[in-house]
Amino acid sequence: MRELLQAVPGEVLAKFYGCGSPLPLGIVGLKVLDLGCGSGRDCYVCSALVGESGSVLGLDMTAEQLKVAEEHVGEFSRSLGYSKPNMRFVKGLIEYLDEAGILDASVDLVISNCVVNLSPDKPRVLQEVFRVLADGGEFYFSDVYCDRRLPLSVTSHEVLWGECIAGAMYVQDFVREASKAGFLDARVVSMSPVRVEDPKLLKVVGSAKFYSITYRLFKLPGLLEPTQEDYGQLVTYKGTIEEQEQTYALDNQHKFETGKLQAVSGNTAAILKDSWLSQHFKVMGDQRTHYGSAGDPALAKELA
Ligand SMILES: C[S@@+](CC[C@H](N)C(=O)[O-])C[C@H]1O[C@@H](n2cnc3c(N)ncnc32)[C@H](O)[C@@H]1O
Repeated sequence: MRELLQAVPGEVLAKFYGCGSPLPLGIVGLKVLDLGCGSGRDCYVCSALVGESGSVLGLDMTAEQLKVAEEHVGEFSRSLGYSKPNMRFVKGLIEYLDEAGILDASVDLVISNCVVNLSPDKPRVLQEVFRVLADGGEFYFSDVYCDRRLPLSVTSHEVLWGECIAGAMYVQDFVREASKAGFLDARVVSMSPVRVEDPKLLKVVGSAKFYSITYRLFKLPGLLEPTQEDYGQLVTYKGTIEEQEQTYALDNQHKFETGKLQAVSGNTAAILKDSWLSQHFKVMGDQRTHYGSAGDPALAKELA
């Protein structure tokens, strides 16, 4: 990722307002949509990651940011040796992807870096992402969350909005809304604290704690359950993702060693068998026999 970032034009990097690089690897050939792409840094990196057979669409509501993003497309795609650009940008709102002309089931991977917290209608964003994703597609994105529902004194604070703090969703509400939109069993890739250090702002937020979290939400209608259940299924990672030939971390609970048979829950088996990741995994077994809970150690202890 560091190598790819070095190739991104300086003006694009200078206007980057995200946090980290929340992008999955192994995405050659996929159709990617970046929600709130800003000056397009993550789109440029994805343009290289998906290769000439893939495509990237960056969407943002701010014309000045899009202008910077658009300016360097030709030169960047020539530097990658592409015969024509695989990346383009469109002005629009993340709540109304339909108005930006994004069709049902037309995208394989939706990414977003520090944007959803700024939306006044987050459930609608999740519904729109679910609509535009093809079956087996994924919303892989990073955002700011909170350990509680924030009071009006915080949510109406202009400076805290600009800092991507005031719109932070209570993490449990997010998981519930994601599930209502159809994204069951949200997976956490990484989580790190976001500290409010300014004494004046600290007084406004009080004891609330904020986190930057990268989530993976898979669109697998009818294949995921709200909880992780054991059907005795096994998985092996083929070692086919570039730069992750030895191990692959699906999320912060599931790491796969190349060639090793590992027991997984029904949901993990479905993700690895029926999402875009299926090309990199071999999944054995089916879900005809249920062997109990796979994800609740307390319940497992109680039942033992
Ligand atoms: C914190 S910046 C992050 C930009 C970009 N993802 C990056 O990493 O540099 C937030 C971006 O989201 C855009 N944005 C905020 N709310 C939006 C909305 N409802 N629809 C479309 N874009 C939005 C802003 O214009 C801005 O470019």
